[in-house]
Parts: sequence; C-alpha cells; structure tokens
Amino acid sequence: MNHFVSKNGELFCEQVAVAGIAREVGTPFYLYSKATLIRHFQAFDSAFAGIDHLTCFAVKACSNIAILNLFAGLGGGADIVSGGELYRALAAGVDPQRIIYSGVGKTEQELHYALEAGILLFNVESAQELARLQEVAADKGVKAPVSFRVNPDVDPQTHAYISTGLAKNKFGIPIDEAFDLYVQATGMENIEVKGVSCHIGSQLTLISPFIESLRKVKTFVERLAAKGIGIDFIDLGGGVGITYDEEQPPHPRDYAAAIMKELQGFTATLILEPGRVIVGNAGILVTEVQYTKSNRRTGMKSDQDAGLVKKFVVVDAAMNDLARPSLYGAYHAIVPVVEEKGAGREVVDIVGPICETGDFLARDRELPRVEQGDLLAVMSAGAYGFSMSSNYNSRPRVAEVLVDGSHYAIIRRRETFESLIEGETIPSGAEE
Ligand code: LLP
Repeated sequence: MNHFVSKNGELFCEQVAVAGIAREVGTPFYLYSKATLIRHFQAFDSAFAGIDHLTCFAVKACSNIAILNLFAGLGGGADIVSGGELYRALAAGVDPQRIIYSGVGKTEQELHYALEAGILLFNVESAQELARLQEVAADKGVKAPVSFRVNPDVDPQTHAYISTGLAKNKFGIPIDEAFDLYVQATGMENIEVKGVSCHIGSQLTLISPFIESLRKVKTFVERLAAKGIGIDFIDLGGGVGITYDEEQPPHPRDYAAAIMKELQGFTATLILEPGRVIVGNAGILVTEVQYTKSNRRTGMKSDQDAGLVKKFVVVDAAMNDLARPSLYGAYHAIVPVVEEKGAGREVVDIVGPICETGDFLARDRELPRVEQGDLLAVMSAGAYGFSMSSNYNSRPRVAEVLVDGSHYAIIRRRETFESLIEGETIPSGAEE
C-alpha cells in the first residue's frame, strides 16, 4: 500500500496535489511520500520482530540523506557499497555500528575510511580483499570486523543483470573456498571474524531461492562451529521484490516468517539489507509532455492511418533520469497526473529528449490521450531511480521532493548548468 492516490482523476501524494508541486518546483522531479517510506520500513522491520535482527537499508536504492535519516530515526542501519555511500550514511546520522559494507571492489582508501568510521561489519568478497583489510587494519592498529560473503550458487530467478548468487556471477566466495578463508582469518591478528553473508539478487518474487540459500548458509555455519569458529551475524542480503506490473512478490510478513522458521535454534543476529521493497513504491518521477508526434512511412500523408508506424509522447524526463526501462527493459506504470474525463486512449512510446533510440520510459503503452503540457507520473520509481541517474547529454539532475502530510520539502535541489561544469577546467596551455 502506498500514499499516491487519485482523487477525482487527480493524483495526490498524501494530501498534496502532485500538479501543484510541479507548478512550484518545475519538472521533472522525483517525489517521495514520507508516510509510505515509514510504513514500508516498519512493515519490513517489524515482520522480523520475533528474532534478534538489524535492518540495514541498501543505500544504493535511494541515497538521499533525508531518506537515510528517516530510516536511521526508525532504528535502521545502512548497507553501503562505496566510500561515497558511507559518507552519505554518516552525514544522514546513521550509527556507524549499524553500517555494513558490501561490494567486490573496496579500495584501500575506502577500507581506511570505513575502519576510521568504526562500522559494524565488512562483507569481504575475496582472499585478496581479506589480505588488504588485514594490512590496512594493522596499519591503524585496530581489528576489522569481518563477515565473508559466500556465493551459494542459487538461481534467484530474476533479471540476469541483477542475479548475484550464481557461481557465474562476480559476487561472493564459493562456499568451499570460504571455509578455508575463515580458518585463515581466525589466525589473522587484525581481523575479527564475526559473520556470514550472502545476497543472491534483487527483485525476487519467490521465497524459495532465499530459503535454499539460507539452508546452505546454515549448513556452512554448522561446519564452522564444528571447527570452533563461532558466528554472531547471519546476513541474508537484499529484500523481496515489488509489484511494478503484475508481479506477485511475497509479503514481507511471509518472507520473514519463512526465514525465522529456518533460523530456529540459531542465536546469531540476523542482518537484512532491503532496498527496493522499502522505497520502490514510495517514490514517483513526475514529467511534462513536451511534444506529441506520429511517425509514418515515407509517402503516406498525415491523415492516412495505414502508414502510421508509431505515436510518440516526448517528455522532459529521460534515460539519464530513470535508467531502468532502457537498461533492463523494466516496466513502470505511467499515469496522467490529471486525467481528462472522456479522453480516448492510444498506444504510444513515451520517450525522452536523449539522442538514443534506447531512450524510452515505456514502449507500446496504452495511455489516455495526452497533450503538450500535460503531466505524467512514472510510478514505482523510488528505488534505483534518482540514485542511478546521470548527467548524460549534459542534463542537470532533477530535484527530489519529500511530502509529509500536507507539506512538501525539496530534499535535493535541481542541478544547474553551472553545477554541470563544476570541477572542469580548460588547461592553460590549450588557450595558446
Ligand atoms: N545488498 C546487496 C549486497 C546488494 O547488492 C543489493 C542490491 C541489495 C542489498 C538490495 O537489494 P534489494 O532489496 O533492493 O532487492 N539497479 C537494479 C537493482 C540492482 C540491485 C543491486 N544490488 C534495478 O533497478 O532493478
């Protein structure tokens, strides 16, 4: 359930009319509902109330500090994958002892920074990373708290680009190899072995792959215990998927119940790293129609429907603002912000201004007929929306707005042309 609702054909975010915000803030912009963010965080977190656990929001899904701060206030931690995400989490007020650090390519500087900050856990993904972490920790005279991310070789049955738990994916350490690393790590002076982690993929719509990998992790933890290696944390990675179209992902309650049942008899604290399930349906992208056009075959006149190939709705948001449709062929529902009564429907491609045919938000989509100046809302854009946006085609990144009841706040101002070239210089020699 979310707080984007249509009242008499007009889209509201909580009690605020989306069109009103568009008038004041301009388009495009991302719009988040605070009540939805809170509701989704609590629904997920409280589903695990029966077990000692820590919900570390996956910062990569939506990294605005206002949103990270909201989750920190609800007792959440952060799952980070870069020094930049650590900086954001700290700036947002996340307790370092609730921050865990995943990712295959942590640099020496990033390890330094995270050790300095005193984070809860490093999810180590290779023998070389372990060796580097030992060196950096020795240099600082501290002990680095470590979980190894194991690769359980389980098919999450999701999009190939976001499957991470198969042996052919770059993530984690094969379970057998991981065992030797644990043994090695327990003998390292500046490493403290704390946990086991895994993350098999994103946008999962089935519980069974989670359970399959958890069983492998459990067997592994028992094997470690037999060797005298105790574990304080079991990290199960990202959360469940969401409904973009007709997917029927499990409810967090059922997902949690299945996991807690599996974990009976285990005393380790469970760590979860949900991103999409918390923010996905709590955010939308609002865009304005710039032009409508129809492309016909050569030689066909504009009134001849026979030659019509495509109708396009050109909007002011593009693949640089929301990459998911172009990158994954992802579906996002798109609705008019104000629906004209009795408007006919038509099948269109909704495209942006970027100079690539791959720049689209939707293809062959049936939509109420729209005109220049109309506003469209791209739904379910809260996760991996703004956080994946770029400046491609030198487009300033859009504003982010947070609604709270009957008020809204700009939580990230729209970038300017000046900010586009900030940091760029023309070397003095080039002027001669
Ligand atoms: N933990 C780790 C280590 C991850 O790599 C991810 C996501 C998560 C947690 C959060 O997973 P979630 O709860 O959101 O499913 N850009 C893609 C999704 C990439 C996911 C990357 N890892 C998309 O737009 O669908």
